[in-house]
Amino acid sequence: MTTDIIARCRSIAAAHAHLDGPLLPVLHAVQDQIGHVPMAAYPALAEELGLSTAEIHGVVSFYPDFRTEPGGRRVLRVCRAEACQAMGAAALGDDLKARLGVEWHGTTEDGAVTLEPAYCLGLCACAPAALVDDRPVGRVTADGLERLAREGSA
Ligand code: FES
Repeated sequence: MTTDIIARCRSIAAAHAHLDGPLLPVLHAVQDQIGHVPMAAYPALAEELGLSTAEIHGVVSFYPDFRTEPGGRRVLRVCRAEACQAMGAAALGDDLKARLGVEWHGTTEDGAVTLEPAYCLGLCACAPAALVDDRPVGRVTADGLERLAREGSA
């Protein structure tokens, strides 16, 4: 399984290697297609892109959008940037962490939901805002987000 994933990552990197600055497009493609950026694939990515594994690790760990482990069946991204903070995002995040029994970047024990922070989703006028997988939702409440996150994820 891991060998197959590494081969897929290598193939994705090779397909983007011609781009100027291919690393971010490669990492996004890997996460889109595999669901995370596995650390076991760093050497293959580095080799295909002519980079070091430290450079791969540095970029993956810098951006909160990238995960190195598989996420839950639903990924809930809750905005923590300024406009959303002004509308109660800090308390919303604390409430969601307590309801789901996870910290940021954590996945519920049943594998249903991963809780991720986000830093402005472009939905400031509808703060506080979140993404449920790729679906944007505004003026969210903890009740509503928990319900949306668990719909179809059981
Ligand atoms: S600050 Fe939350 S969507 Fe912009």
